[in-house]
Amino acid sequence: MLKKTVEDALNKQFNAELYSSYLYLAMAAYFESVPLRGFARWMRIQSKEELAHGMKIYDYIIEQQGSPKFPVIEAPKTPWKSAGAVFEHSYAHEQKVTGMINSLMDLAVKEKDYATQNFLGWFVKEQVEEEANASEILAQITMMGDKPGILFHLDHIIGKRE
Ligand code: FEO
Repeated sequence: MLKKTVEDALNKQFNAELYSSYLYLAMAAYFESVPLRGFARWMRIQSKEELAHGMKIYDYIIEQQGSPKFPVIEAPKTPWKSAGAVFEHSYAHEQKVTGMINSLMDLAVKEKDYATQNFLGWFVKEQVEEEANASEILAQITMMGDKPGILFHLDHIIGKRE
């Protein structure tokens, strides 16, 4: 069973993961409008991953006899000026999420909640991958330049994401 402090913090993270899903879907829509369909596909897959992160927390709250909460999900700030700006935003967002997961872990440690610490271990590891993915694509765009020809080439590669 969860302490109220931990349950509230998990619910906050549940909402944040749903926001991430919403944000990446907005980024997918931006790339559809450009159109860069490969980038759009990458973002759509990312949006689904974020929803899965949220559902992981939802399931854990229920398993621990808590109640998932459903406050309003913040609207993403759109549009973006360029593909590079989208990935700058994505990378900054993932760094912010890492900070949120770390704070959640700090709370679980403070509350001596060993089950939640163990549960959060998966998210700690996942955030390393999330930051690496966003920063790698951002580095490629920065290195090669945010130009139509280059983006068309990258779009083809990035769109291969499974
Ligand atoms: Fe759910 Fe992108 O972290």
